Amino acid sequence: MGFNRKFLFSIVLLVVAVPLMGNAFVWNVGDAAGWSGQAQFDYDNWAGRRTFLVGDDSLRLVYDPNTTNVMEVSYCDFKSCNPSSPLATYNTGNDTVPIPLF
Ligand SMILES: *[C@@H]1O[C@H](CO)[C@@H](O)[C@H](O)[C@H]1NC(C)=O
Ligand SMILES: *[C@@H]1O[C@H](CO)[C@@H](O)[C@H](O)[C@H]1NC(C)=O
Repeated sequence: MGFNRKFLFSIVLLVVAVPLMGNAFVWNVGDAAGWSGQAQFDYDNWAGRRTFLVGDDSLRLVYDPNTTNVMEVSYCDFKSCNPSSPLATYNTGNDTVPIPLF
């Protein structure tokens, strides 16, 4: 599918490493709203109220795959809004993505 027919939505997560292992949690991004990209859902606020275990937790992104895909990009590409060399692309509409240790 061409990128021109898709929307790239990104959130910046403030990730906090805490010394707790073996407690992997799958976070449903946006809770019931899912990864809709709808302007009325405040993903910054959603992320800011949670503590993510880097290298342990995962993010589940639920969205309409007919209109949306998800790309994992480097911080540089995120800042410059460059989708041409994603680290990963997801398009099933229900993807669980680990939060990697960098
Ligand atoms: C995506 O498109 C297919 C084919 O038109 C349709 O059957 C399906 O219901 C659509 N999915 C959503 C979530 O709208
Ligand atoms: C997404 O996938 C997970 C794991 O397979 C499943 O438990 C969940 O019900 C699915 N959610 C939706 C909205 O399809």
